[in-house]
Amino acid sequence: MVKNIKAEVKNLTFSYDKAAPRPVLNSVSLPVFENSVTALIGPSGCGKSTLLRCFNRMHDLYGAVKYEGKIILQPSGFDILSNEVDPLEVRMKVGMVFQKPNPFPKSIYENVAYGLRIRGIKKKSYIDDKVEDSLKKAGLWREVNDRLKASASALSGGQQQRLCIARALATEPELLLLDEPTSALDPISTAHIEELVGELKKAVTILMVTHNLHQAGRASDFTAFMYLGDLIEFGESSQVFTNPKEEKTENYITGRFG
Ligand SMILES: Nc1ncnc2c1ncn2[C@@H]1O[C@H](COP(=O)(O)OP(=O)(O)OP(=O)(O)O)[C@@H](O)[C@H]1O
Ligand SMILES: [Mg+2]
Repeated sequence: MVKNIKAEVKNLTFSYDKAAPRPVLNSVSLPVFENSVTALIGPSGCGKSTLLRCFNRMHDLYGAVKYEGKIILQPSGFDILSNEVDPLEVRMKVGMVFQKPNPFPKSIYENVAYGLRIRGIKKKSYIDDKVEDSLKKAGLWREVNDRLKASASALSGGQQQRLCIARALATEPELLLLDEPTSALDPISTAHIEELVGELKKAVTILMVTHNLHQAGRASDFTAFMYLGDLIEFGESSQVFTNPKEEKTENYITGRFG
């Protein structure tokens, strides 16, 4: 099946420190196909989280970082890394879920409504509908619909992570970034999230960092293998995992390093 490109990374070079002798990402280029899951894999420190965080300009929150190259959203042609673009605008288009569930110390309802409220949406019926719809998409509605006013902190870890996914979905992002979304969860919650990711891709394009190669094989359509800041190989996951083109990829997926 031919897929459209949702985002395109073009020769992205990135440094946390302008004076650093070598960048953390070296001229990375990568297509992100629409309505699919792309997994970013590679040994610890290779730059997976760094690359993911370029997509929502998260690095800008922490200091004077240096981007070269582009990340273009399609079909709009929106240039995520442009100096003229407000990072807040980027974060409206690109949602993110972190490794450790991080709900706000608010009710379940207010966690999901949060992004709508900061966009100035006030109409209660609209917010109610969006909260319900997002919780349904995140596979959490049936478990929480009778206690929306309860504190999010009373949920289990797996439920909290699905709440964070609902919170990210409420504002209808074009791209959803997941950084090791199941590494803090038990196997049952992990299976639940993987299943959910498979459903969500029908509505949103997903880019997911994972250390778990079985997860990447099971839950992704495309896989990008990174090593020391270089993108070594990109392809359909079935190809990358069964018939990698590069020796480094093969060594990694067969457990010879990393
Ligand atoms: N805030 C930061 N400031 C400076 N250097 C950083 C910062 N965050 C990460 N790095 C460095 O950038 C490189 C890539 O780190 P990154 O967190 O992207 O790796 P990763 O592939 O996500 O690793 P892991 O699998 O362990 O999460 C590492 O050498 C790391 O030390
Ligand atoms: Mg990481």
